[in-house]
Amino acid sequence: MMKVKRFLLKRVVPRGLHSSLPALLTTSTLPGSLGGVYCYDQMLTRTSQSALDVYLAAGKSALDNCEAALAAAGRTFKDVRTCLDLPCGHGRVLRWFCTKIDPAGITACEIDRSAVDFCRRTFGVKGVYSSDDLNQLTFPDAYDLIWVGSLFTHLDPARCVALWRKLSAALRPGGVLVFTTHGESCFTRPGLPAYGRQFRETGDRMKAEYQRDGYCYAPYEGADYYGITVHSEDYVKKTIAREVPERMELVRFAPRGWADHQDVWAYRRTA
Ligand SMILES: C[S@@+](CC[C@H](N)C(=O)[O-])C[C@H]1O[C@@H](n2cnc3c(N)ncnc32)[C@H](O)[C@@H]1O
Repeated sequence: MMKVKRFLLKRVVPRGLHSSLPALLTTSTLPGSLGGVYCYDQMLTRTSQSALDVYLAAGKSALDNCEAALAAAGRTFKDVRTCLDLPCGHGRVLRWFCTKIDPAGITACEIDRSAVDFCRRTFGVKGVYSSDDLNQLTFPDAYDLIWVGSLFTHLDPARCVALWRKLSAALRPGGVLVFTTHGESCFTRPGLPAYGRQFRETGDRMKAEYQRDGYCYAPYEGADYYGITVHSEDYVKKTIAREVPERMELVRFAPRGWADHQDVWAYRRTA
């Protein structure tokens, strides 16, 4: 799909040095307006052409999902002046937003400060450093579109609620919140086992909890709040209806809609 070019060269830069590297070394040469690839992007840990193709396809799939979500809400990207990408990572999806939206209207938000700095520098977007305490988040704009790719998939229930509340409040009236979750199919199709030995071993226990509670969460070994979360459709709908003060209308739900892996939800904030 795309040529890797200087990509392999960048991968040999030692860890620890990357935050001080000049922009020249931390950006590569993706064609068109897709911008650079960060040398230690966690979403691209292998250096093959096929890995880069998967990386690009995941970004494009997110863009397509946002386009479908906007359409379901009666909007298009032309109506989007402000957009929040949280967590932006090192721009796997953000680079695609920049092909549709003026970067000056895009906010990149992450707990990983190197990711925010990279996105700001490479794409010319605004940057916000996130916090472990999601209640502390503040944003520079109100948003027409918010994309949350694979964060609810990693948070405990209390943090999920805090984030749904925070993001709903950050939408403009008529704005659209698009987010992803792990759904039930993760127990059977490629999903939990891909997250490593820990989740292969605890899969049965997690599934039992999921069947009982409508969700399950297990932290990564050594992590305090970050792990793997699976949500049922019913749990997400009921939790948002109960916990979010703003009026939020579900306009689209696409099981395994993101790159045939994560479920994709779209809620419109009504006036
Ligand atoms: C699976 S990655 C997805 C990144 C990006 N959305 C993408 O699809 O390429 C999850 C990201 O969440 C970030 N993260 C973890 N806790 C966070 C928090 N409290 N606030 C913001 N980002 C967080 C991690 O640093 C990581 O980059």
